[in-house]
Amino acid sequence: MRSYSKASERNREPILAVLRRWLSGSCRVLEVGSGNGQHAVYFARALPQVFWQATDRAEMLPDVSEWIDEVALPNLGAAIALDVNVEGWPVMAFDAVFSANTAHIMSWPEVELMIARAAAALRAGGLFFLYGPFNYGGRFTSESNARFDAGLRARDAQMGIRDFEAVDACASAARFTLIEDNAMPANNRLLVWRRDADRPRESSGGEGS
Ligand SMILES: C[S@@+](CC[C@H](N)C(=O)[O-])C[C@H]1O[C@@H](n2cnc3c(N)ncnc32)[C@H](O)[C@@H]1O
Repeated sequence: MRSYSKASERNREPILAVLRRWLSGSCRVLEVGSGNGQHAVYFARALPQVFWQATDRAEMLPDVSEWIDEVALPNLGAAIALDVNVEGWPVMAFDAVFSANTAHIMSWPEVELMIARAAAALRAGGLFFLYGPFNYGGRFTSESNARFDAGLRARDAQMGIRDFEAVDACASAARFTLIEDNAMPANNRLLVWRRDADRPRESSGGEGS
């Protein structure tokens, strides 16, 4: 039986409202860590102008594919294997990268890799959407997030709710500029960054100076 996420059903409308504002024209979105593919199906159906590419680690593909293959939408690609630890991501091929509930599951070095690889996968001006719980000023934003974090760390010491400031600093280093921080249900956020244009190469002093 295909797996089902109640949280995904709860958060999909508020996430979609933000995606709608930014993805109004024809564009291509790369999703990282699609999980069971529920978001991918919902967003692709709601945004027919968007080509949605779902991905996850190879061992997760049967789960992702169950939802995606059943609906057979023309703007929803067959799920492909993509692990933030593995090189070979597409380069400058996407207008947006979307990832939900992944930053607290990945280790911090993996979060850094996801951000750097997302930047490389985007054209200049492309958008990076990251959904999930974040801490601000070194504090949890709710008791339930504190309990959630404790549960994650008990499961795996590398997991845990990330500091917004650390994630944003990492994004800045990858040439992203934060353009929105949206409040979402259940003390989650939807962060949106825009990929800056690459800086022109330093002149080699061709004007004789
Ligand atoms: C909590 S699930 C979130 C699934 C879905 N995005 C959602 O919001 O329901 C975290 C996902 O991150 C994926 N993930 C974990 N480590 C990853 C990595 N190194 N590269 C790519 N995806 C990874 C997992 O396989 C899993 O599908």
